Amino acid sequence: MDTKVVMLDEGSLDRASIKEAGEIIRNGGLVAFPTETVYGLGANALDNESVKKIFEAKGRPQDNPLIVHIADFEDIKPLVEEVSEIALKFMNRFWPGPMTMILPKSSIIPDAASASLPSVGIRMPSNVIARELIRAAKVPIAAPSANISGRPSPTDVQRCIEDLSGRVDYILGGEICDIGLESTIIDCTVQPTCVLRPGGITLEMLREIDPNAYIDPAIMEKPNEDLKPKAPGMKYRHYAPKATVKIVQGDLQKTIAKINEMVQNYIDRNEVVGIMATEETKDSYPKGLVLSLGSRKNMISVSQGLFETLRSFDDKKVDVIISEAFEEKGVGVAVMNRLKKSAGFDIIKV
Ligand code: TXA
Ligand code: MG
Repeated sequence: MDTKVVMLDEGSLDRASIKEAGEIIRNGGLVAFPTETVYGLGANALDNESVKKIFEAKGRPQDNPLIVHIADFEDIKPLVEEVSEIALKFMNRFWPGPMTMILPKSSIIPDAASASLPSVGIRMPSNVIARELIRAAKVPIAAPSANISGRPSPTDVQRCIEDLSGRVDYILGGEICDIGLESTIIDCTVQPTCVLRPGGITLEMLREIDPNAYIDPAIMEKPNEDLKPKAPGMKYRHYAPKATVKIVQGDLQKTIAKINEMVQNYIDRNEVVGIMATEETKDSYPKGLVLSLGSRKNMISVSQGLFETLRSFDDKKVDVIISEAFEEKGVGVAVMNRLKKSAGFDIIKV
């Protein structure tokens, strides 16, 4: 399949390309596009056959449902059975933006999109290319992250091209994704509100609407038989670069000392080692390949850089990546969730 790639300027959109991409979606094709979280791989959410193509292109397990993206508030009505009072409050506060709500689905949602669950995830992105694409398609767009299944989600168009060129009809390129981690998913079919996946809309923010909102306890620990994540997708090994990832967690000075000791051990064994550091610590590592995620004082810079940094280490063919840990509060919860999953929960405490 030939993949057409068009770069767009978010400040002055090329309407003709958006229209063309929208028509491709409406006619059953696949289009990758930027959002404020990560790039998405979109298809007509109302057509079972179109949605199935997403699973093929990504190599995605069939039991992992997709998020349906809308552009305007009124678009939600036909897609769900009802919007509870609290769900309405969440959407009024956080849409458009990086939050997905799980709601009871209506009969027009095809089985492939919802993996035959009684519910569906709906999100209204804020990215202007994403919203204009949905409007141009004139149908809601089902879209997972635009990566080959299991790899870190793309936050930059080049990564999208790397993973999906030849597998999709069209790639719309925009700027680097602002948040860099996938949307916060909240289950609004239960009370109190349960966070199925942490993201840029933090627990602290959600508690302004539902003070009892809590995070699915299964997602921050290594999955086991008794503790299964509620979102089907959260159970898979995920966000994983080709290199082995290890996290060192604890006091920052002790972390630095431990990482330096580990680096030396890997070098002695002739292994190429990468260190995922921060602006505050990057000069504390004399050996190994050091990349900084961003400043600890600005956790959005860290979240924005995480997936791209994991992928950069792969480009540099490191055998092992050692990462510092982050405090699990605010966006740090989402950063640590992705980091732990990419490390297969291999955490060294100091
Ligand atoms: O930020 C995002 O959400 C990005 C962009 C493209 O919008 N999309 C994204 O989609 O991350 P994906 O497919 O990579 O992740 C969707 C997650 C999966 O973990 C899936 O299991 C969960 O949402 N999910 C979808 N529908 C669900 C449902 N009805 N109940 C529970 N979990 C659901
Ligand atoms: Mg994904």
